[in-house]
Amino acid sequence: MPTKVYLSSAGRPVDPEDAKISVFDRGFLYGDSVYETLRTAGGRFVEMGRHLARLRRSAEGLGLEIGFDDEAIRAAAGETCAASGEVDCYVRVIVTRGAGELALDPRQAGAPLLVIIAKALRVPSAAEYERGIAAMIVDVRKVSRRSLDPTLKTGNYLNSIQALRQATGAAADDAIMLSLDGAVAEGATSNVFVVAQGRLRTPCLQTGLLSGITRTTVLELAAELGIAAEEATIWPEEARAAEEVFLSSSVRGLMPVTRLDGVVVGDGGMGPITRRLHERYAAYVAAIAAGRGRA
Ligand SMILES: Cc1ncc(COP(=O)(O)O)c(C=O)c1O
Repeated sequence: MPTKVYLSSAGRPVDPEDAKISVFDRGFLYGDSVYETLRTAGGRFVEMGRHLARLRRSAEGLGLEIGFDDEAIRAAAGETCAASGEVDCYVRVIVTRGAGELALDPRQAGAPLLVIIAKALRVPSAAEYERGIAAMIVDVRKVSRRSLDPTLKTGNYLNSIQALRQATGAAADDAIMLSLDGAVAEGATSNVFVVAQGRLRTPCLQTGLLSGITRTTVLELAAELGIAAEEATIWPEEARAAEEVFLSSSVRGLMPVTRLDGVVVGDGGMGPITRRLHERYAAYVAAIAAGRGRA
């Protein structure tokens, strides 16, 4: 099934080869943009409301006027998914500050540009979830909230790219990044959970990380299942000694980390608490697909 791209400049979804933006677009030049990645299940968006709220918070943090209301973005995303012909879509919503003079000053920008990419969703197979991934706690740190605030989801992902380069260069699948203080913050494109001494724990937002939509859902589902969860400061030693570690994100869901820094985590497979949450999360996505959940 084809990938489709909506551009507000075109006003409709087009084929990728026809999706052209200006080389003066500030998203291209400076990463001066905000974005969200989400999925559909059975043709319905998963948590679009929360993704749009975060998109607006990120834009506010950059002083970027989005210029499209939520209904317009939902409609354009719906149209793009429909044009792709997929019921389970990977959806990326991007708003750039637009094109303008070749100058940093955002006052020189023109109108914002909305881009939506919809393509076939590829989720890990059951065997891939069972196997889990190898993660590495990398040297590349999150930046301070006084720099490019890591709680904003902007188009500037070079920090995560550098982290991922280090991890994959060392034959790991994914990177876990620390805060400037050395506390566990998050993955390159995911949040981190650990089960330590039987307790489910995730780095608190004060650590300086993206408030993941899936992270929030996992905390809600854990409460439903009666699994006590804590948002806390987690040091690398705690993560390395944990019985279970997993990463959460909108596209991958809950992915077990079965090797951390080259050492097997727990018994090397999906741990029991991760499994309960993974299965509950799958049921939550299935409910949305069936029209019973929050879309
Ligand atoms: C840096 C970072 N942290 C966490 C996440 C997970 O967020 P969500 O659960 O909203 O997909 C992402 C997702 O892209 C991310 O890029």
